[in-house]
Amino acid sequence: MQFKLSEEHEMIRKMVRDFARNEVAPTAAERDEEERFDREIFDKMAELGLTGIPWPEEYGGIGSDFLAYCIAVEELSRVDASTGVLLSAHTSLAGWPIYKFGSEEQKQTFLRPMAEGTKIGAYGLTEPGSGSDAGGMRTTARLEGDHYVLNGSKIFITNGGVADIYVVFALTDPSSKQKGTTAFIVESDFPGFSVGKKEKKLGIRSSPTTEIIFEDCKVPIKNRLGAEGEGFKIAMMTLDGGRNGIAAQAVGIAQGALDAAVDYARERQQFGKPIVANQGISFKLADMATNIEASRLLTYQAAWLESNGLPYGKESAMSKLFAGDTAMKVTTEAVQVFGGYGYTKDYPVERFMRDAKITQIYEGTQEIQRLVISRMITK
Ligand code: CAA
Repeated sequence: MQFKLSEEHEMIRKMVRDFARNEVAPTAAERDEEERFDREIFDKMAELGLTGIPWPEEYGGIGSDFLAYCIAVEELSRVDASTGVLLSAHTSLAGWPIYKFGSEEQKQTFLRPMAEGTKIGAYGLTEPGSGSDAGGMRTTARLEGDHYVLNGSKIFITNGGVADIYVVFALTDPSSKQKGTTAFIVESDFPGFSVGKKEKKLGIRSSPTTEIIFEDCKVPIKNRLGAEGEGFKIAMMTLDGGRNGIAAQAVGIAQGALDAAVDYARERQQFGKPIVANQGISFKLADMATNIEASRLLTYQAAWLESNGLPYGKESAMSKLFAGDTAMKVTTEAVQVFGGYGYTKDYPVERFMRDAKITQIYEGTQEIQRLVISRMITK
């Protein structure tokens, strides 16, 4: 058993940490306040090769693995969870299904520019009437000659409006629900595709979350991903890996909050001594650190399993469940360590706390993770 990261992983961590500190952190609070997405940050990530970490060089990636990708999401989220999820949705929700199920032509046409960072990816599964019950979708895709005609809408789309490539799911056989679901690659300039309402959110406010709408949207057959009827499995398998990216995001948010709380507890003087001298504070920090380390180990384990071609669905659901709850707990405690100052926007911990909440909700609520885990351990 080997718990030490390789030189390559350490190098990627250092590179992303420096990038996050110098290029992402300085504007994080301002972008959060203004709900502003900054494409330049994505472009800079592309220059560093971060937009294609796990994909082979032949598809424009840097040929590393899912552990390196998780480390990158973690380090970005340590300063800005919105930037963390930008990379996570781009890589594991949009890139992964194309890498796994795409034809050679689809990989060259769509995955390569995404990996090289000239295009941004997104994933569309959720609909107004189907969230946790993903199989209850209504969007349809009707075959007409050499193309499909898509009608319907998807909501809560991370990278919505800024993405160029959307992996979406629609019913080619509305009578069969899951078995009638098919995956498609929709490009943002397709006629009949439009971006709807942009959500105003509690957290990850500089990550755009929108509705996407299909009104007689013509999608060429060559943009179908996988076979007809294979879409639900593609959606589920994509989420298996995607969830670990969210776990990595949660680890990063929690670590960022702990870093801030430790610094503050050592500096803040009350009753003539730093507040860290009180066990009420220092034990809190110890619990926070322990839960983060456990979350990190679960996350890295799932990433390692995926990188080594082993089953990782259960482990990924566990990492998201544990890390998401940890992020919420740790960030709430960090605000407590800061006291009244923690409740203000003068410090980043209130932002971390707001950002943490979504990790318990998206890519499957914590309740869905429990459902997935319990099914897997009892089947
Ligand atoms: N891998 C492969 N196949 C899978 C699978 C997996 N992980 N999970 C299910 N399947 C297959 C099943 O084997 C089954 O196929 P067969 O009939 O051939 O055996 C088929 O899919 C249907 O499976 P279920 O009967 O289990 O389906 P279900 O309707 O009971 O749903 C569920 C299962 C786990 C609850 C699923 O609906 C689910 O994951 N819901 C949560 C959805 C979710 O996470 N949404 C988040 C969207 S992304 C997002 O958050 C936005 C963003 O941009 C960040």
